[in-house]
Amino acid sequence: MDLAGHLNHKVFHIISTIAHQEGIQAFVIGGFVRDLLLTGYDTPPKDIDIVVLGSGIEMAERVRQSINEEVPLTVFKNFGTAMLKWEDTEIEFVGARKESYRKNSRKPLVEDGSLEDDQNRRDFTINALAISLNQDSYGQLLDPFGGLKHLEEKLITTPLDPGQTFSDDPLRMLRGIRFATRLDFLIEPDTFEAIGHHRERIGIVSQERITDELNKIMLTRQPGKGFTLLDKTGLLEIIFPELYQMKGVEEVEGQFHKDNFLHTLKVLDNIAMKTDDLWLRWAALMHDIAKPRTKKFEPGTGWTFHGHEFLGSKMIPGIFRNLKLPLNEKMKYVQKLVQLHLRPIVLSQDIVTDSAVRRLIFDAGNDLEDLMTLCEADITSKNEKTVKRHMRNFHVVREKIDEIEEKDSIRNFQPPISGDDIQYVFGIPPSRPVGIIKNAIKEAILDGEITNEFESAYRKMLEEGRELGLIVQNKLKKRGD
Ligand code: CTP
Repeated sequence: MDLAGHLNHKVFHIISTIAHQEGIQAFVIGGFVRDLLLTGYDTPPKDIDIVVLGSGIEMAERVRQSINEEVPLTVFKNFGTAMLKWEDTEIEFVGARKESYRKNSRKPLVEDGSLEDDQNRRDFTINALAISLNQDSYGQLLDPFGGLKHLEEKLITTPLDPGQTFSDDPLRMLRGIRFATRLDFLIEPDTFEAIGHHRERIGIVSQERITDELNKIMLTRQPGKGFTLLDKTGLLEIIFPELYQMKGVEEVEGQFHKDNFLHTLKVLDNIAMKTDDLWLRWAALMHDIAKPRTKKFEPGTGWTFHGHEFLGSKMIPGIFRNLKLPLNEKMKYVQKLVQLHLRPIVLSQDIVTDSAVRRLIFDAGNDLEDLMTLCEADITSKNEKTVKRHMRNFHVVREKIDEIEEKDSIRNFQPPISGDDIQYVFGIPPSRPVGIIKNAIKEAILDGEITNEFESAYRKMLEEGRELGLIVQNKLKKRGD
């Protein structure tokens, strides 16, 4: 197959010329070739992997001289690799190598090898495809392991015996699941079985790399498929036990609850249709995470999961720590959504009162739209009528929110009277009564008892102060007056 016409990036011709001058061979390999054959490129690729029969580092240095000395070059001497960042593309150079692995490490012993040795040591046949950059065969596809056929058959399989590929580098088990999910490919049965067999070896992979793969799976079009594969291969139990524990149904007195794992994956796939936001997707994956721990069968009522939203929100920091996800505002955001995830639905089942909606707007603040997206994704049922009914109710809640938002300015509202104001008016230091009055004003606004304005809040403050036996010492003017 001649792909010369597709090698549009200007670096390919530069490499080809240098390889010719130096009398060495160079090839483009890996993800670039795979994605080129799958989709063609109309935008410049983000990553290009180059393999040379010789020194990758020297080739990178020569290419840099030829482009411009200013282009950033990073050399990894220990690995014999070098990376050039040219405009928006990272170009990685490596010498063709033969690798052998030791039992307890992902770090291979490396020696120089042929192109075929190099293709052989790669993870999957679809990632082992190479295109020649040499002048006599420029653009020719080199495919000793049937990668092209596997692309057509939508198959993930390894060049070597899969057991060896995964035992050599167990991260590849997750990469395989990620590619199967992203490309919607099948993992060939022997390859699949080998993942199950070697699953415990994931223990030698750093958590950062595992989580990087999880994040990549999360960002695919149907991440639920990835988690199904993780479960079926036995990896899920090891790398995400809390999610694994959601599996299964129990029965008491002929009553079943739904399989919370399957439900969660449906919610995740639903939300993936609405948003690319990684953290909103994580919130969807974890919204019911405490269901196994709160599950109870109550005779007369059936299965209950009381308080799972609160316990779930409490579980998030521990899970984030274990997964080495960031312990920052992203985590707080996920916690908040998990904690609030029932609120809009509960609203939609009741008569929707203004004050309940106002409280929801206040509590969710800027994350209200995301919360609504999560809740809508959470409406899953085999019964279409039930889904339709919930969606209709939900629509009413949305309308009500819009209506109240227009009327009151509740979102992120700062009460029109501050704690400092209260201290000043009654001439008191920071103390409990200040908190009581402040809270009473906030509650009265949220309940719709008073409007969210200075005058009415001022009146409420005086009223509350009087009840607490406080005496007005100073008059306060509306800020800005
Ligand atoms: N590779 C491998 N084993 C790994 C990682 C990478 O064999 N654990 C090889 C594969 O041939 C892969 C290439 O190195 O194609 C480049 O790796 P990487 O850039 O991580 O992945 P890509 O295949 O380019 O895919 P993507 O950029 O979509 O992650």
